Amino acid sequence: MRLLVTGGAGFIGANFVRQTLQTRPDARITVLDKLTYAGNRASLEGLDVDLVVGDVADAALVDKLVSGADTVVHFAAESHNDNSLHDPSPFIQTNLVGTFALLEAVRKHGVRLHHVSTDEVYGDLELDDPAKFTEQTPYNPSSPYSATKAGSDLLVRAWARSFGVRATLSNCSNNYGPYQHIEKFIPRQITNLLTGRRPALYGAGLNVRDWIHVDDHNTGVWAVLDAGELGRTYLIGADGELDNLTVMRMILEQMGHGPDEFDHVTDRAGHDLRYAIDAAPLRAELGWAPDYGDFAAGLAATIDWYRDNTAWWAADKERVEARYAEQGQA
Ligand code: NAD
Ligand code: TYD
Repeated sequence: MRLLVTGGAGFIGANFVRQTLQTRPDARITVLDKLTYAGNRASLEGLDVDLVVGDVADAALVDKLVSGADTVVHFAAESHNDNSLHDPSPFIQTNLVGTFALLEAVRKHGVRLHHVSTDEVYGDLELDDPAKFTEQTPYNPSSPYSATKAGSDLLVRAWARSFGVRATLSNCSNNYGPYQHIEKFIPRQITNLLTGRRPALYGAGLNVRDWIHVDDHNTGVWAVLDAGELGRTYLIGADGELDNLTVMRMILEQMGHGPDEFDHVTDRAGHDLRYAIDAAPLRAELGWAPDYGDFAAGLAATIDWYRDNTAWWAADKERVEARYAEQGQA
């Protein structure tokens, strides 16, 4: 199988490449990645992959790479809500124009596509609502990030229906694990503590996220690639709902700090209250189940990974925190 993985030097993409090389020895992998601030060549170090540094919105390059592939897995995106609130333009370019370029190429060459997306396209749920997102939940994105992901999903659905593109989609909840950029909630707090900074909680920290280990997300992507129905969307989630304050206190405790050794900082504009995924169809129809049932154990392993891999993240810490400080979020 010749796989083209866009965004394969980012958090989830790099973990996908690692998992695939271990579980699918016949896979030949080409990664297309622009190596933005979020992409890291070191995440692919020592792996048998071809890395092409380029833009998913570069139609000529994408056409050439897609013509040599059997399957494309599309992770490349601008992925951070906070950045999208301060400068939405790269989100429009990469998430919308980039997905369009890819769709035109897979349409021309008849190549199978899996589009990786987020549960944030559905907007948010009330804290006391027993409901979870399902594949029928109407799209209602809140931020420029989630709006561009929603738009990219709709493009994929339209290309599948109108042009018969062989595409599937998945919308997953919040991922955690190794190789996640330190701008994101969990690695930011871990690396704050490792560098003697105080962790930063937005607002009161009552917002709920539905955490899933990145490897479980990627086994879900493979379940859809192997047996998913073309044209369909699958939700991926592992029943991991926790509020941010609880996660913050778990990190503090596991790293030997007191429960109040953090700061409350300016809340995110338009901050989504709660995400929660109902992954019943993925479980029942495709037989998928998560391997990481225990969030506390997965978090401990993630903390160990950041402690053991300082060289992977340390050079970026100053810049990331300076940016948060400018935004009143440090
Ligand atoms: P990330 O920011 O860690 O990685 C994104 C990668 O895409 C980086 O390597 C970056 O260099 C690359 N990239 C950015 N713009 C590009 C361009 N124009 N051309 C080529 N490459 C480009 O993001 P992530 O957390 O790994 O997310 C990957 C995908 O999964 C995204 O589509 C995101 O919407 C989706 N997703 C993320 C989560 C999560 O919790 N992180 C949850 C659900 C879905
Ligand atoms: P984040 O990792 O940015 O993911 P998303 O916006 O996709 O949910 O944030 C996860 C949650 O943590 C979100 O509710 C915002 C909050 N948060 C903080 O409280 N402090 C922080 O420093 C960051 C980056 C996020």
